[in-house]
Amino acid sequence: MSVPLFILAWVVIPLILLYLSKLLWKVYLDSFKDDNCKLPLPPGSYGWPFIGNSLALARSMKSTSADYYTELTKKYGPVYKSHLFGKPMVRVRGESLIGSLMVKDHTNFGVAWMKNVKELIGPFALTNTPLPLHKERRNRVKQAFTPDALEDYTKHLRQTIEKEVKQWTKQKEIMTYDAMETLAFSAACEIIIGLPIDLLDPKKLASDFNEYLNGFFTLPLNLPGTPFNKGIKARKSLINTLHPFIQDLITGNIKRDGKIRSSGLDFIMSAHRDNEDTVTESEIADRILELLFAGHKTVASAATSLVMFLGQNPGVAHKIEKELEENDIQNISDFTYLKISTLPYLGDVIKETLRMQPPAGAMIRQASKTLEVGGYQIPAGWLVACSIKETHDFDDTWDQEDRDKFKPDRWKTLDKPYRTRYGFIPFGVGPRICIGRTYADIFLRVLAIYLVWECDIELKNPNPFMKRFPIRHPADHLPATFVSKP
Ligand code: HEM
Repeated sequence: MSVPLFILAWVVIPLILLYLSKLLWKVYLDSFKDDNCKLPLPPGSYGWPFIGNSLALARSMKSTSADYYTELTKKYGPVYKSHLFGKPMVRVRGESLIGSLMVKDHTNFGVAWMKNVKELIGPFALTNTPLPLHKERRNRVKQAFTPDALEDYTKHLRQTIEKEVKQWTKQKEIMTYDAMETLAFSAACEIIIGLPIDLLDPKKLASDFNEYLNGFFTLPLNLPGTPFNKGIKARKSLINTLHPFIQDLITGNIKRDGKIRSSGLDFIMSAHRDNEDTVTESEIADRILELLFAGHKTVASAATSLVMFLGQNPGVAHKIEKELEENDIQNISDFTYLKISTLPYLGDVIKETLRMQPPAGAMIRQASKTLEVGGYQIPAGWLVACSIKETHDFDDTWDQEDRDKFKPDRWKTLDKPYRTRYGFIPFGVGPRICIGRTYADIFLRVLAIYLVWECDIELKNPNPFMKRFPIRHPADHLPATFVSKP
């Protein structure tokens, strides 16, 4: 029996061509293998010609039932190849592999952002700065996160968070993730940047900032109406809004309204002055946008997960309360950075939250020479994604039997603490480790304290599906009621 001609023309031949194109795509990309290195390329699939695995990733961004990277990790193991963001990419997980790549071999990497991220974040952002200059810039930014600065921020966070938690208890139900985004954004604007938010138009600022952020998580297509194009316009609008504020910063004319003595940016500016640097308006603008970008969605994500775990585990909330009582932390005067940042159980709750739900998925770099990892080679020019979530999920640092359980007490008894150096990496590792991690930690501690003092958390859906993009968050935004304590 012969195959009808139209089936041959419209089905069989296109399928054969599709298959051949995929094969040629593989042959082409495999030809980048460095023959001077004896190791093979990692297992995996480059997806379809030119678009690589982008469609599969885009599908998974919308999914509310399966996680793309978890599936691939289960299928291929700790090192596998793919093709994303226009380049071959090798994804790596596991404390020893990540330790060797990001710490030992870190000088063999360049920054690797897509065109849109590079352009939106700006040339002066730390994340865009190549290594030799990176250290110098980073040293200035570090001045925003000294213990003295954090002591000052703790007071401000206490006021802001107490007010906010009390507001939540007056509402019937809130979308936790949305509420945390608003809180984390306004705290970052006021504390890290010191923006005179009352003098600006906060609604316009937030809406421009959201448009700006949308430009990051999309294709780098700069055509009228595309999210990238809108993101660039929003960046310009934000810089215009910030212009008078930046001028005041440069001339030293900033007047604080008494809420905060010095913002993070004031400390950074004073480090520049001490070093007699010439700082341009563009550099300050990039610094502000990067700190707001890096420092608010991440914190909102972690804060939402913290609420979720406290809601799921009322016993944990009671243990935090007990620790506060035992340490005589009962009112405002006891509320110092020094006291709160050293409470061990509260610290373990935060660590366990970040272990199970790390806000950022991976650290992405570009290999500047052929690298060897886990018995495979990564050719020069390829992207490398060091996976945070899969390291936490699959690494031997964590007991097989209970690694998927929220157990803050595990941190007390972790028998091989040295292994958690690279087995627990919510803030990254190496010279680009998160610079705002102490601020994030104290934000979460103050939030946990006010939550256990003020309310019981009732989650509408205690086990939501967690989406990975653009940052880890519950697909349903975690509707919850914060019931005021008598
Ligand atoms: C729970 C909250 C946070 C998480 C999980 C987080 C996570 C991370 C990670 C994984 C990196 C490393 C990226 C890489 O190596 O490619 C990073 C870098 C960075 N983070 Fe955070 N972050 C958080 C909060 C903050 C805050 C509050 C700020 C500032 C206010 C901040 C500012 C930055 C900056 C500027 C970098 C780039 C550092 C550099 O390149 O030297 N982050 N963060």
